[in-house]
Amino acid sequence: MDVKQIEALSDLISSSVAQLKQLQSSLKTTEHTAATTRAEFLKPSLEVVAAASQLVALVRTPERYLMDISTAHQLSTSLRVVVETHVVEILREKGQGPKKSLSAKEIGAYNHVNHLKLARVLRILATHHIFEEVSPNVFANNAISIVMDTGKSLTELEARPAEKYDSSNGIAALVGLFSDETFHNAVCTADVLKDPQMTNSFSPYDASFALAWPGTRNIAMYDWLNLPENNHRKKRFGMAMHGMNSMTPSDAILRGFNWSSLAPGSIVLDCGGGVGSVSLPIVQSCPQINLIVQDTSPVVAEGPIFWQANHPQALAQGRVTFQGHSFFESQPAENKNVAVWLLRMIMHNWPDAECVKILKNVRASCNKDARIVIVDNIMLFASRSQEIEGEETGTSDPDALAPEPLLANWGVANSLSYKQDLNMLSNHNACERTVPEFADLLSQANFRIVEVHQAHQSWLPQIVAVPV
Ligand SMILES: C[S@@+](CC[C@H](N)C(=O)[O-])C[C@H]1O[C@@H](n2cnc3c(N)ncnc32)[C@H](O)[C@@H]1O
Repeated sequence: MDVKQIEALSDLISSSVAQLKQLQSSLKTTEHTAATTRAEFLKPSLEVVAAASQLVALVRTPERYLMDISTAHQLSTSLRVVVETHVVEILREKGQGPKKSLSAKEIGAYNHVNHLKLARVLRILATHHIFEEVSPNVFANNAISIVMDTGKSLTELEARPAEKYDSSNGIAALVGLFSDETFHNAVCTADVLKDPQMTNSFSPYDASFALAWPGTRNIAMYDWLNLPENNHRKKRFGMAMHGMNSMTPSDAILRGFNWSSLAPGSIVLDCGGGVGSVSLPIVQSCPQINLIVQDTSPVVAEGPIFWQANHPQALAQGRVTFQGHSFFESQPAENKNVAVWLLRMIMHNWPDAECVKILKNVRASCNKDARIVIVDNIMLFASRSQEIEGEETGTSDPDALAPEPLLANWGVANSLSYKQDLNMLSNHNACERTVPEFADLLSQANFRIVEVHQAHQSWLPQIVAVPV
């Protein structure tokens, strides 16, 4: 056992906890989410998570450690059960006593899940700090489970189950997406990687998704989501993207490109923008900006519901409009005046050839003063060195790397980026990228990078490029 490293990690935990304590006392609240969503908490909390996880890997026996990881699918599955059977909402609405708790039998009377099985699902989650087992077989929401509350009443959920995620924070929808479609696809990744043809293919039609569902061998996942029979999945996907957004500080999109520098009347086009939730803070904080949300027609059709719930004035004033369009087709002529093309979490959905196609369509339509803002994970190597054979790999921001003895890429504290990289592999045969990989794609479409905002504090990094 490497006691020296264990000590160094526990020292780091102590100093980061001291910082968190100081910050918490300045907030004058003990509420969990009030603290953890604030920007200044990000660095010390990342340090605690990275150090504590590294510590666990050092002190656990290797066999136990491997078994903990290889059985993690039971956690995803259990989360899917509670989201799809409304356990969080049942506890919030029907729970009794100071903790608003119910026995598994009482919960089962509302959602019709066998209570003996439900108790086991809830117990594994409570064992991992999601829900509290208040007394044997009696459960309550806690600070983590309550984040999956869609705010709907049981009457609403029963009457209109397809609207479960509408106007919610999107977290339950995101849990649903990860634990259902994404999980399903990932089960086939080993088969794809061992297949002599598929392993070397970078076609979007050769993702694990192609093997995961009946009839998906020749259709890309987004086209499948747009099929009428998958309407409920498409709706959930849209809200899941909003959930991804609500995980970050609410002004994350504002930390990077200087949106307020845009002239009055400037148009921002949120390309592949889903319902446009990411651009909400831009519209709220920059009254001089008008927004076009561009996505496939079935997706943008959901946009007005989101804006009606979150910023009805912008909708009424016509500051936000929607454009049903595939970014693989030439951009409509009316987009010639767009000042900023925002592509958030788009590049990571597509293999290189398709990314270049999207960028070339934007380039053909954009004027010489336009900017393109790419918001996506920027990948770091787990090794301390970030260079390949002497080549700089683009860690332009030294603050992006974690301090020693942590893994340089922030280890488990940053695991969602690496899970997303593999989610992109299994969903779309795509990937997350390093800065030089982005630079290469952009230069193929005649753009060059002018700004990289990579620091972990901004959560999702931004790359700003201009036409050449
Ligand atoms: C990962 S989501 C990102 C959504 C949004 N930009 C965000 O950051 O929340 C990818 C989006 O690309 C859209 N998309 C997929 N294929 C498209 C196409 N051919 N044309 C336009 N949008 C597309 C999807 O509908 C989806 O909304």
